[in-house]
Amino acid sequence: MTEPLLSLRSHLDAVAGFGELRTVRGAHWDLELGGIAELSYRLPGSPAVLFDEIAGYPAGMRVLTGSTASPRRFGRTLRLGDDLDDVGVVDALRGKPSRWAAAARQFPVLPVDDAPLLANEVPGEKVDLLSFPVPRWHAHDGGRFIGTGCFVVTSDPDTGVHNGGCYRMEVADDGRGVTLAVVPGKHGDQNIRRWFEKEGRAPVTVSFGHDPLLLVLGGTEVPHGISELEYAGAVLGERVPVVTGPDTGLPIPAGSELAIEGWLRPDHLREEGPFGEWTGYYSGRRRPNLAIDITRLYHRDDPILLGAPPGKPPHDYSYMRTVMKSAMIQDELAASGVPGVVKAWAHESGGGRLFIAVSLRQRYAGHARQVAYLTAQCPAAAYMNRYVVVVDDDVDPADLDQVIWAMSTRSDPVQDIEVMKRTWGSKLDPLSVEGEPPFNSRAIIDACRPYERLDTFPRVAESDPEFLRELAAKWRDALA
Ligand SMILES: Cc1cc2nc3c(=O)[nH]c(=O)nc-3n(C[C@H](O)[C@H](O)[C@H](O)COP(=O)(O)O)c2cc1C
Repeated sequence: MTEPLLSLRSHLDAVAGFGELRTVRGAHWDLELGGIAELSYRLPGSPAVLFDEIAGYPAGMRVLTGSTASPRRFGRTLRLGDDLDDVGVVDALRGKPSRWAAAARQFPVLPVDDAPLLANEVPGEKVDLLSFPVPRWHAHDGGRFIGTGCFVVTSDPDTGVHNGGCYRMEVADDGRGVTLAVVPGKHGDQNIRRWFEKEGRAPVTVSFGHDPLLLVLGGTEVPHGISELEYAGAVLGERVPVVTGPDTGLPIPAGSELAIEGWLRPDHLREEGPFGEWTGYYSGRRRPNLAIDITRLYHRDDPILLGAPPGKPPHDYSYMRTVMKSAMIQDELAASGVPGVVKAWAHESGGGRLFIAVSLRQRYAGHARQVAYLTAQCPAAAYMNRYVVVVDDDVDPADLDQVIWAMSTRSDPVQDIEVMKRTWGSKLDPLSVEGEPPFNSRAIIDACRPYERLDTFPRVAESDPEFLRELAAKWRDALA
């Protein structure tokens, strides 16, 4: 059988082909996979790591980390090109998210009868998720998390539109079950709540290994009402083949390595967490959480789990989140009709959410604040943003030194910092207080030159770039 669309193995072949794949044999699922992955994010080029012969498990059962953590791998995943660098990938992505979203409905999923995934089928009562090498990623995690790079499908009970999301999932009941930690307000959560209200239970399917395109789309705020599977079709220019789960009627990507289907019920809870999170901190305490009653499991021979463990940045998916978020925020600002926005950047050190800088060409009084407020609340940025800094177009918002220079020299704290209160926060926030609703607050910092002084603001003390280029050529030997 040829590899189905969105097969993880095809992705691995491509990554090995351009020399960004390392294989590690014999590491332990308990902390070693997580630690080696953490080391790999800091290596030059940040390679993907494929773990094989994991202690206590048969050779062939593998775990992949770092699937999208370089421009080439990210560019390949988004089908932008296989040889892009940092700048090239950002340029290639610009404008695409909104085009993909608009085209998604032309790519309904394609149900198929056969897939490598169907090679092994395990009935619910025989499921043991710990028969696969599920890692304990960080020393203070509450357990073993099989779901990090996973793709969870729910549906809208009224329209039937599918939603694909990525949420952390901890193995429960000694391998027989698994929790699903969806933050309130996410599209997946809205679907699950509405199923509970209508039917008292909610169907769900989960793939644990697939082309990382599904990790990127499941893990990014694709607009409400758009199926991530159809959106993936728009990225690929082809309908995504799926197997229909017989128990739930929900799709499972045919390219999946390992998948489950089952049901959530409001009273089916298991202890979950804490977990080392993308903020760089462990989240909260161990507490009851929704758990899936698994009715069926499917897996390929020698399945590969797609891991994406977060942590203090840089982490497994901080690069992809920064690039995706930056493009989506920029697209949403353009769609809002506000003029003059040059570039948005959702910094990796803020987990791609907490600290966003946007540059603009100021056109009218109030323009800079308008861009700042819109950014802080646009759907792509609304969840867990903390700081938005707006800068003039002579400042590169992706360069933190330049952003801090602009903040330090063009913003007057008394009048250029504004605070929004009771905005969309999360229990993941290290500042959130146990037992209190997870609001946060956010500051916008207007680090643009004051509009009324645009013509008279002191000149920047740097030479003309063209003059510098000429000097560099003329004095090449002296400057070498
Ligand atoms: C690896 C990874 C793990 C994530 N874990 C969670 C999680 O545990 N809970 C959550 O609500 N969001 C989590 N997210 C973020 C969501 O996937 C993201 O907000 C997504 O847009 C949610 O989709 P939805 O709004 O369609 O439900 C994670 C993202 C990634 C990439």
